[in-house]
Amino acid sequence: MLWYLAAILIALIVLRKAQLRLILSRGKHRSLAGHARLGRLVTRLIPYYEYDETRFFCADDAPAEVAATRREAFARLAALYTQRFARSAALTREVAPTVSDLQFTQRYRVPFQFSRMVRQHLQGGAFLESSSGTTVTDLDGNRFFDLAGSYGVNLFGYDFYKECIEEGSALARELGPVLGAYHPLLAYNVRRLREISGLDDVSLHMSGTEAVMQAVRLARYHTRRKYLVRFCGAYHGWWGDVQPGVGNPLAAEATYTLKDMDAATLRVLRTRRDIACVLVNPVQAMHPNASAPADSGLIDSARHARFDRAAYSAWLAKLREVCTARNIVLIFDEVFVGFRLAPGGAQEYFGVRADMVTYGKTLGGGLPIGAVCGRRELMQRYREQRPADVCLARGTFNAHPYVMGAMHVFLRRLESEPLRSLYRDLDALWERRARELNERLAAAQLPVQVSHLSSIWTVNYLQPSRYNWMFQYYLRAQGLALSWVGTARFIFSLNYSDADFAAVADRVLAAAEAMRRDGWWWPGTALTNKAIRRRMLRELLQAWWATSSIGSRSSPRSRYSGARQ
Ligand SMILES: Cc1ncc(COP(=O)(O)O)c(C=O)c1O
Repeated sequence: MLWYLAAILIALIVLRKAQLRLILSRGKHRSLAGHARLGRLVTRLIPYYEYDETRFFCADDAPAEVAATRREAFARLAALYTQRFARSAALTREVAPTVSDLQFTQRYRVPFQFSRMVRQHLQGGAFLESSSGTTVTDLDGNRFFDLAGSYGVNLFGYDFYKECIEEGSALARELGPVLGAYHPLLAYNVRRLREISGLDDVSLHMSGTEAVMQAVRLARYHTRRKYLVRFCGAYHGWWGDVQPGVGNPLAAEATYTLKDMDAATLRVLRTRRDIACVLVNPVQAMHPNASAPADSGLIDSARHARFDRAAYSAWLAKLREVCTARNIVLIFDEVFVGFRLAPGGAQEYFGVRADMVTYGKTLGGGLPIGAVCGRRELMQRYREQRPADVCLARGTFNAHPYVMGAMHVFLRRLESEPLRSLYRDLDALWERRARELNERLAAAQLPVQVSHLSSIWTVNYLQPSRYNWMFQYYLRAQGLALSWVGTARFIFSLNYSDADFAAVADRVLAAAEAMRRDGWWWPGTALTNKAIRRRMLRELLQAWWATSSIGSRSSPRSRYSGARQ
């Protein structure tokens, strides 16, 4: 009898485990980004190959005259770049061999098959000399409208941050670089962060990545649970546990990557007991379940961003509900969007309160920063009754006096009328600007549209093409500075006037007209996104075959001239 009962019990436990496993599997997104291990494995198998000079201009099987138009246009653009960006490009060439970050960003501006030709001929340079208003100026004296936004740091215009740094430095100068003890400015900064976040306690760090690390560590410490939940595609810095897939050589052992905006995820949260926290990066509202876009991934025109505020707010409300019910710590990672959407950040904008919020980027007034705000019982780093069981977090430069100074000026000005007024009708303003630009693009029958989350924009491409990544080079030629992800992200600062914006819109249109005139958007009837992907898969298989031990051993690099098939 006892054996019988034990067998039933074991069977029930096994069944329950299988059921939980199944629920977890259903919570994973079907894409490779949703399956970190598989994603890493697949990326390891992708072989390098590149297009030779002929194939480069007809990778979409465009007819010879279109390829010739493109070739001439490319040569013209290359000549313009050589002449216009000479000094910036020369210094870039000098340092690139020894600066690994630069080597990476240069290589990954466009899909890898095209990258070598582009790197050789379209050198824009990675250096700038000055900034002012909404513009930046390079070493050759070229002035660009800045759409790169310093990764999101630049919210109020570069002059604003120069003042924060200058005034903040003056405030901190007497104490100088003393660490460990705090500068008194910290008191005001902490008070303001508490007001802005609506949370009890604050800890200060040196980057957004570290702030997220600390928030997750604290959640694990207090819940005594192991797993963090992140959503498919969401970026939370470059620390291993929040980057379980491509980009991290190790598997993250305590991370669940689940589907964004999906009931299956709520089921996982409702049923598992090992989840410490859920991390939300609200910028994912633009592209749930997809990684932050970059033009290196623009192999076709499938990229599509779209923001639905009501739907995302409703999703966050559901997350809040289940996290509360299951004692899971809900963390909003506002390192990017904090202060950009509303004075009270994403919590205010979406009308949902988190247990912890991380901030960074713009908060430092132009200097490096990360901050965690959280409920008191979650922020405490020790247990009253277990004095040896502590949760450590330090970092030599945390709360550096100069950073506290710049942050102080930033937060003070945030309370002032000129800045407060910027938030009034902010959404309506950026909505109007995006709509007007889209109307102009549509009226000119250009295959480009923008979508946006307030002042964060993405370019979508309407017509299947293998050359959309070229658009970033036409935009630069028109005097628009983009980050290394190209047209995937325009990050506007809020000091853009209507006149500034009109100038940007004119340039976007001029760039798109030139791109079309030069034949890059040739509308081949057989050209669909699916056909492009299929063709690429064939090329990948051929390259893999060529570089495998069975294929050619003489050259590790495959050059694809691509006889039409
Ligand atoms: C949402 C989010 N979290 C964390 C980080 C990491 O911040 P940092 O680059 O300061 O380490 C970023 C950076 O882009 C981010 O966008």
